[in-house]
Amino acid sequence: MTDLDPLLDEQRRFPPPPEFARDARIGSMDEYRRLYRESIADPEGFWGRLAEAEIDWIEPWDRVLTWDPPHARWFEGGMLNVSANCLDRHLETRGHKVAIHWVGEPPGEQRTLTYRELHAAVERFAAALESLGLLAGDRVAIYMPMVPETAIAMLACARLGLVHSVIFGGFSAEAIKDRVNDAGAKAVLTADGGWRRGKIVPLKDNVDEAVAECPTVEHVVVLRRTGVEVAWNDERDVWWSDLVRDAPRGAPPAAVDAEHPLFILYTSGTTGKPKGILHTSGGYLLGATLTMKSVFDLKEDDVFWCTADVGWVTGHSYVVYGPLAAGATAIMYEGAPDHPEPDRLWEIVADLEVTIFYTAPTAIRAFMKWGEEWPAKHDLSSLRLLGTVGEPINPAAWMWYHRVIGKERCPIVDTWWQTETGSIMITPLPGAVPTKPGSATVPFFGVDADVVDDAGESVGPGSGGYLVIKRPWPSMLRTLWGDDERYRSQYWSRYEERGWYFTGDGAQIDEDGYVWIVGRVDDVINVAGHRLGTAEIESALVSHEAVVEAAVVARPDEIKGQAIVAFVTVGGGVESDETLRSELREHVVRRIGALARPAEVRFAQALPKTRSGKIMRRLLKDIAAGKEEIGDTTTLEDYSVLATLRQEA
Ligand code: WTA
Repeated sequence: MTDLDPLLDEQRRFPPPPEFARDARIGSMDEYRRLYRESIADPEGFWGRLAEAEIDWIEPWDRVLTWDPPHARWFEGGMLNVSANCLDRHLETRGHKVAIHWVGEPPGEQRTLTYRELHAAVERFAAALESLGLLAGDRVAIYMPMVPETAIAMLACARLGLVHSVIFGGFSAEAIKDRVNDAGAKAVLTADGGWRRGKIVPLKDNVDEAVAECPTVEHVVVLRRTGVEVAWNDERDVWWSDLVRDAPRGAPPAAVDAEHPLFILYTSGTTGKPKGILHTSGGYLLGATLTMKSVFDLKEDDVFWCTADVGWVTGHSYVVYGPLAAGATAIMYEGAPDHPEPDRLWEIVADLEVTIFYTAPTAIRAFMKWGEEWPAKHDLSSLRLLGTVGEPINPAAWMWYHRVIGKERCPIVDTWWQTETGSIMITPLPGAVPTKPGSATVPFFGVDADVVDDAGESVGPGSGGYLVIKRPWPSMLRTLWGDDERYRSQYWSRYEERGWYFTGDGAQIDEDGYVWIVGRVDDVINVAGHRLGTAEIESALVSHEAVVEAAVVARPDEIKGQAIVAFVTVGGGVESDETLRSELREHVVRRIGALARPAEVRFAQALPKTRSGKIMRRLLKDIAAGKEEIGDTTTLEDYSVLATLRQEA
């Protein structure tokens, strides 16, 4: 893992600013260590105490944890309602506090919802969903733009014990169909369209196309957002506003079991089929709430902005559930960061006096490219804390963020976690842990992280290995929807006898115990902070009639972190020209979505394979990256393939 070497040369240290540490929830390394030790020495005592303090239970639990590897049950016997924890319990003390400040993409469009207003909207929409005959445990797909109604929809599901599956608005009809069918969703919630860089994304059209092949779907609820004409199916479709108007009075929160499923969120794995990550209620909510408060050092008057789309786990945990459970004021922005101009986000920060800003390294690299003049136009002095998530951050981008956005004043929390982990796992606590640019630093409470080799031995400082988590944590995934076998083999089989969770990430730990994440060690790639499986893209490519074989690899990209390069062999008689190249790129967009569009399609006469017929991706990666020296080729079956591949490149 030589990629790490430059990172480990990083000598800069940034201790928490004394003023920040003084007022912080956790204000020193000693305090972090004391709590961390407690969480590891007595996890049940630690988590039991916090579950008591952070969550309103309708019925108390009997047991903190039942660990029957690889299945965990947290807070068994406890009953709660997640939406009541996010809304009802704040009404008395924070009823008039802003819960969501929403900013639309068309400039000037803004809405503010107080906790009271959000609560009323969720109550009403829950009653509307109930009027459709949906029952606790039913699955509801949500394919919507970044508007308050999307949060309302999620919370209304939680209120009734319906299991939501949010599908990112950038996915295509084909991708929606697969996800809806896998979950067996009874209803799909969508909008007539969404705004993106001044254009309308045809959300309803995509749903129509998908749902034509989704036999479980009985209802499609459509929010009017853009006003465009949409096709209509009277038996199935209903306008959001009509449904709400006709619904009886609000729905009270249902008491559900701590282990009742809260949501399914599909993410990419190493096969062509996305995985339905299942999260449940009590443990997930505890993880989201506790990290929200401690990692972001949340104060009552903070204005918190996580720029993630709710279609990703970051949007679930830090746009909706974490901030609302913690009683925070959260920002939700509908559009693109550079629309109409590259200072849109900074304008919003200044206008709404954002205090905590959490984004992805890919966005930071784009800001760097657009230039310092854009943030310089606005007063960013309200900011007190910055965060990043989703991919490794290079020290140069970290330093730019620190200097240009944080004015060398704001700590930066580089937070490592995954869809599977539900909440932040490795991170600095900003008032306690000195940061090093490029390192996610230390494990959060209760997270027993290590870097080990194939045999499971800790590698120790100076060597790379696999990042594992050695014991269960409350917000961990519980299984893969409908595929417990894959859950076992994907995450638990590698260190089965030890009961460790395999993250799929490579990492290194330095002599201070700081974790440096290198990136995925499996066939998952990370393009602009979006997780994609190479196998998914390959199966999209081979579904095109001209394609015989395809291999997809990532090459480094200055802005997006990684970019997709597809090597393709075509059938005899097919013209491998520019037209086919762009057709194949658009074919992938149709099958998956624009986020999966290959940056490059390279035609090859043959793909490099081992004697046993396995495609040698490692070689393709080197070729895609334009490396002169490529890796070990001793197992290559046919050397001439290499020479032609390079010529064609
Ligand atoms: C990567 C996003 C380095 C990692 C919350 C992980 C990171 C995958 C970081 C999960 C970070 C996430 N530093 N790498 N701070 N955060 N990753 O499921 O490879 O979309 O396995 O969850 O993103 O991506 P996912």
